[in-house]
Amino acid sequence: MKGKFITFEGIDGSGKTTIAKEVFTRLKNSGRDVILTLEPTQTWLGDAVKRSYDEEVSPFTELFLFLGDRATHTQKIKKWLEQGKIVLCDRYCDSTYAYQGAALEEKLREFRMDAMEWMKYISKPFITKPDLTILLVIESKIALQRLSNRKKRTKFENMGFLKKVEENYLKLAKEERFVKIDAKKSIKEIVDEAVNYIEELVKSS
Ligand code: TMP
Repeated sequence: MKGKFITFEGIDGSGKTTIAKEVFTRLKNSGRDVILTLEPTQTWLGDAVKRSYDEEVSPFTELFLFLGDRATHTQKIKKWLEQGKIVLCDRYCDSTYAYQGAALEEKLREFRMDAMEWMKYISKPFITKPDLTILLVIESKIALQRLSNRKKRTKFENMGFLKKVEENYLKLAKEERFVKIDAKKSIKEIVDEAVNYIEELVKSS
């Protein structure tokens, strides 16, 4: 039996981590065999990624750290899927396409390369395609207001950059596996909607 792979995406401040946790609890309580995982991972590879946020590293170094973490994480995800589990992942490949796509857009344009397309291409051999991607949509201005009282901030959290990231997400969301949910709705409404999409997906197979 093959499981189902569901990813949660959205800009910083979209509330995706809270939603992923609530959806996990809801599915677990209804008796589903479900796993919640995240990227950057809670391993030394994920630690290396997080360390790069606070260091002056090349944006390419940053990109390849995210991809390095993902390649090993994907091996674990594939095992869980082979065991028939529902795997929920808080950020996955689309985070790289959207964030590093924004960070490297100009640099790659010099070489007549489309950043997001190139990242999708090089990722193919070491990712597994999500069956469903839940995108929490929110304007960067509102997302930043929500983040303003957090202690630990990342360099990604500025208006111009997050606006570009959100635009990239909306481009990616044209793919069929995406569903968009308005992140301004209440947590309960968002969780209800997300659980419905997941239950539909599980029943359809
Ligand atoms: P988090 O806020 O979900 O913990 O994610 C940490 C930050 O890392 C967030 O600002 C998004 C960023 N990120 C990328 O830029 N590329 C990626 O591939 C991933 C997984 C996260």
